[in-house]
Amino acid sequence: SSAPATANSAVAATATVITNIANLVTNDPSLGDSSPLGLIQDAAVVIDGDRIAWVGESSKAPATDNRVDAAGRAVIPGFVDSHSHLVFAGDRTAEFSARMSGQPYAAGGIRTTVAATRAATDEALEANVVRYLREALHQGTTVFETKSGYGLTVEDEARALRIAARHTDETTFLGAHVVSPDYADDPAGYVELVTGPMLDACAPHARWIDVFCERGAFDGDQARAILTAGRARGLHPRVHANQLSHGPGVQLAVELDAASADHCTHLTDADVDALAHSRTVATLLPGAEFSTRAEWPDARRLLDAGATVALSTDCNPGSSFTSAMPFCVALAVRDMGMTPDEALWSATAGGARALRRTDVGRLTPGARADLALLDAPSHVHLAYRPGVPLVSAVWQRGERVR
Ligand code: NIG
Ligand code: FE
Repeated sequence: SSAPATANSAVAATATVITNIANLVTNDPSLGDSSPLGLIQDAAVVIDGDRIAWVGESSKAPATDNRVDAAGRAVIPGFVDSHSHLVFAGDRTAEFSARMSGQPYAAGGIRTTVAATRAATDEALEANVVRYLREALHQGTTVFETKSGYGLTVEDEARALRIAARHTDETTFLGAHVVSPDYADDPAGYVELVTGPMLDACAPHARWIDVFCERGAFDGDQARAILTAGRARGLHPRVHANQLSHGPGVQLAVELDAASADHCTHLTDADVDALAHSRTVATLLPGAEFSTRAEWPDARRLLDAGATVALSTDCNPGSSFTSAMPFCVALAVRDMGMTPDEALWSATAGGARALRRTDVGRLTPGARADLALLDAPSHVHLAYRPGVPLVSAVWQRGERVR
């Protein structure tokens, strides 16, 4: 197939061209092979400033001063990790070991991290964010969302978001992670705090609002009150839904036109149907099921029903301490019924959809120049060669960052 391209003359001499790409994933079906991945073989990409200027067949690539030879390897859009919890201190190694010897996962472990996070300095928290962000970047993640939720006081939630906002535009207020231990006897009082002074302090630093809607955390009515209050302050909803059990989270997410319902491990047919007929993305987080030894979410069922699926890490010290999107892709293929093509799409374009972004998650002229060069001839190797560090170069906003 012949890939359309912008006029060669529009490309500046100072641009960078990556040539000899065996397989280029564009995520634009109008390019390449017309599959959802919009694959182009023997391809080239031109990066001009922070944008993609041109994609097409390598033989037709415009000449520029800077040339990178992909030497028969694959290029994919940078991963869009639309769900992480990076503002925390401490770790929960003992809890993980206990789980692996048979203890169940319980949301109560969140309070261990809350205590460590409250006790940490701003510098320590920020150093942690930077550490995991770099770790993710090295594995090809060029956009990431991150949440508060380990402070649970007005001050601690606001500082988590202030710190996060220095490193990403995709910040989420999750004051409603669990009821703060300070309000153990007054959950209604905690909901008032979250929807009142805490929201006031956090809204300026957040784009999104999230609630952990689960037994032991917040019920459907509490979650609705919190998300609605956030929406009134200009924050758009996303929901931790149906992770540990069946519940109202997914239906509530769809009712409120949330950008995504995250986890989606325990779904009824009605939940699947609601997602399939909505703009709400089902964001699956296989690292959580891996690290809690829980039942896998059924991606196949969601895809067959017509729902949009995203894959993310959920990186946090309790339920999923991984920053590796390639690992999540491999798990989704091996254990959740996804094909390698579907998993790659969900980890890039799907994540962008879950953040309601059109400038990332695809490699087409005008998109942000976020891409990863794999040490493999195709993206399929991410699942075919699990655990092997295949991401060999990464560009973010046109800059080579690894
Ligand atoms: O997405 N489900 C709630 N929150 C996190 C877990 C947080 C923790 O255990 O510290 C999650 O899995
Ligand atoms: Fe989470």
